[in-house]
Amino acid sequence: MSVHGEISKKTVNTIIGMKEKGEKITCLTAYDYTSAKILDEAGIDLILVGDSLGMVINGYESTLPVTIEEIIYHTKAVRKGAKNSFLVADMPFGSYQCGQDEAVANCLRVVKESGANGIKLEGGAEISGIVRRVVAAGVNVMGHIGLKPQSVNAMGGYKIQGKNGPEQLIEDAAALEEAGAFSFVIEGVTSKSAETVTKKVKIPTIGIGAGKGCDGQILVFHDIFGIYTDFRPKFVKRYANLAKTIRDAAEEYIKDVKSGVFPGEENSFL
Ligand code: KIV
Repeated sequence: MSVHGEISKKTVNTIIGMKEKGEKITCLTAYDYTSAKILDEAGIDLILVGDSLGMVINGYESTLPVTIEEIIYHTKAVRKGAKNSFLVADMPFGSYQCGQDEAVANCLRVVKESGANGIKLEGGAEISGIVRRVVAAGVNVMGHIGLKPQSVNAMGGYKIQGKNGPEQLIEDAAALEEAGAFSFVIEGVTSKSAETVTKKVKIPTIGIGAGKGCDGQILVFHDIFGIYTDFRPKFVKRYANLAKTIRDAAEEYIKDVKSGVFPGEENSFL
């Protein structure tokens, strides 16, 4: 809240400061103006335009085909609805694995054209050189360690990480922090490993399928509200069943049009 009692605009310092105060950070994805506006009005701290849009918006089987243009298009729409939330755009596969100069140029382009407050790069120690350069260029960078969906082919599937201990995760987390990342997502990791990592770093950890020991939590919009029903990962808690609500309403509309109940006089210009 601001001194005027209004919800105030969240900045990178707000997000980092929440860890210092022990306040949990709430994050969700969004891909369009209307959804972002609803989340923003609800008081969400951070909105991510995730490359998960490839699966829930475009119906791809993975996030790999998503392009920079798609991320910019959706982030611009979300920016219009996200008045107070801190807005992060996900850099898609191929946009920062192509040499540091091109990676920096692509990150700058996304921030410049989309209005995001920061970008997310999937990776830990292996991308710390790029993180350092993008941060030096004046961009807020969020890392992403543990299960990295963009590396699904290299990892041989979506596999829970940290089962044999948190060493690799600690190394990744320390490398991101040292490179200047303001935060990182930690995905698909045992709760114990995620909690250990969270205690080792000063920057906030945002968990997804990583237990309650993280500094914040993130879920995909279409998962939490029960819109995407192709599959449901164990870590998703559904707070609504909008697929059913929409299907039922669509069936009622179809019935009403077929039977002549809609449009009624109240929906017509007399
Ligand atoms: O693409 C995405 O939505 C993400 C979050 C689930 C962390 O990376």
